[in-house]
Amino acid sequence: MPVPKRKRLHHHLKPVVLLLCLLPLAVLCVQTLSNNLGANPAEALIRSTGLWALRFLCLALAITPLRLLARLPILASFRRMVGLVAFTYACLHLLAYAWLELGFTAAALWQDAVQRPFITLGLLCWLVLLALAATSPARMVRTLGGKRWQALHRWVYAAGILAMLHFYWMRAGKHDFAQVWLYGVVIAGLLLYRLLRRWGWLRRHRKD
Ligand code: HEM
Repeated sequence: MPVPKRKRLHHHLKPVVLLLCLLPLAVLCVQTLSNNLGANPAEALIRSTGLWALRFLCLALAITPLRLLARLPILASFRRMVGLVAFTYACLHLLAYAWLELGFTAAALWQDAVQRPFITLGLLCWLVLLALAATSPARMVRTLGGKRWQALHRWVYAAGILAMLHFYWMRAGKHDFAQVWLYGVVIAGLLLYRLLRRWGWLRRHRKD
């Protein structure tokens, strides 16, 4: 039986998209190996992995609106991959922090999570992303049942809000809100789009 054109296109595009998603990681590796991370390499690593986790989370949230508005059904096949990439950067962020700032001490992580609310929010966000990543394989849809799986995966919006609060709280300590505004507007816009569609205030297309 011939393979449908969309499936073939998806098959060719997937490795390219994955490589593009991993490009920031490759740049970070090169910068680390060439000692090019600036005056405070640990801070630079923690911050850039955090920012990339947030960027890919925004991208994962934007895929459905983009698919519907641009009428590009193929985008649906990249949502899971982009979500997993966001989780990977979040894991590297946690790893960099736990290693470079805390020397891998669980007690220090616990103490920091209790004392600094922005760390608590980051950990909560990571736990939501972990639950989504663990239930992302197709067989989990069958195990959980379609409705329950969908309800769980709507938590990606909660992850977006938690990530923003984490970012806001961290930058509030430095009175530096320029980027926080930018990402806040993007996440609020995507959440609003989702709510308007849910309440039926936006036209639904076929194949939603
Ligand atoms: C896993 C638990 C997490 C911990 C322990 C954590 C910890 C941290 C720390 C220590 C910083 C740097 C603070 C500083 O330089 O003063 C930071 C910054 C940041 N984190 Fe997290 N984080 C976590 C999860 C996340 C997640 C899940 C995201 C996004 C999805 C995220 C996004 C960010 C962003 C955007 C920044 C600011 C980067 C910048 O200022 O350039 N973090 N986080």
